[in-house]
Amino acid sequence: MSIQNLLRENIRKLKPYSSARDEFTGDAILFLDANENSADWVTGRGFNRYPDPHQRAVKRAIAEFRGLSSEQIFLGNGSDEAIDLLIRAFCEPGKEQILISDPSYGMYAVAAAVNDVETVKIPLKKDFQLDLLAMESAFTHRTKILFLCSPNNPSGNLLKKSDIFQLMEIFSGLTILDEAYIDFAAGASFLPELKKFPKLVILQTFSKAWGLAGLRAGMAFANPEIIAILEKIKHPYNMNSHTQKLLLQALNEKNRFEKFTALIIKEREKLKAELKNLPIVEKIYPSDANFLLVKFTNAATVFQKLLNMGIVVRDRSGQTHCQNCLRLTVGSPNENEILIKNLQKIASIK
Ligand SMILES: Cc1ncc(COP(=O)(O)O)c(C=O)c1O
Repeated sequence: MSIQNLLRENIRKLKPYSSARDEFTGDAILFLDANENSADWVTGRGFNRYPDPHQRAVKRAIAEFRGLSSEQIFLGNGSDEAIDLLIRAFCEPGKEQILISDPSYGMYAVAAAVNDVETVKIPLKKDFQLDLLAMESAFTHRTKILFLCSPNNPSGNLLKKSDIFQLMEIFSGLTILDEAYIDFAAGASFLPELKKFPKLVILQTFSKAWGLAGLRAGMAFANPEIIAILEKIKHPYNMNSHTQKLLLQALNEKNRFEKFTALIIKEREKLKAELKNLPIVEKIYPSDANFLLVKFTNAATVFQKLLNMGIVVRDRSGQTHCQNCLRLTVGSPNENEILIKNLQKIASIK
């Protein structure tokens, strides 16, 4: 099915809002077209002006960094904005569905529910890989979007590439592959596959490896036809100018990005080795992300004891296949040492 046929009719017909900065770009002597305040009296740093609605400079820098074209990039207020817009553009409320594997990132189902779109959840296998047969038999004519998350949250593992290919080959809707943690999994991104799969959307974020969660900046990569749809329905100035400036600064620091990412990967492996020695740890799941899913002998007790020590981790015990599991974010070397020392105390080793 073509992208235009997958799209909701009201979105296909929509005439988008045209902002002042859509209608005029470039230099001028006076900008008196956007009802801004010419007095930059609060910061003196240009925040009296609206930002570039299409984040052209940032997109050029990302395009260069990732080997793409700007037309393949959407930028939003976190990847959560892209998740919401994709559901809104392609799923008819009260009628159509998204398909997700379970457990996975919680926002797919929340964004679907907000839009009155049903979520069909297919449990992952015990090793947190896709259950292909179950997924294939769950596709119906009402399934518009398949969400996959690799490396998966909360399990941390990459999904098998061949499984993702198999699903994309048979599914006629959009496949959204969330690669929020992909920079911690060297060389595993599906970005090179965008050319072959016109209905593939890849989500990435500045919140993890780029260390900019507070800025709220997420990326969707897809073929220009899908990106144009997202650009058409987004809020006009969805990324503020401060964020755009800081993203450009970050994208100019490729070496530091690589250095800090490598440090987290090294720390993850160190943390894994230390955790293995603890009698309260039953299993550490394989991780290609910046966190570890760890099965404890009694997760609730460990969680509470850590909390009493001032250390907050995430209890994922309530999720499918995650009984007695805590999700531990890999911190700085010093933070990881403190975590391990306190876990050793809980295990009464020291
Ligand atoms: C898989 C996954 N996708 C997306 C996000 C959110 O990203 P953002 O901060 O860009 O909204 C998270 C956050 O934890 C995540 O785990």
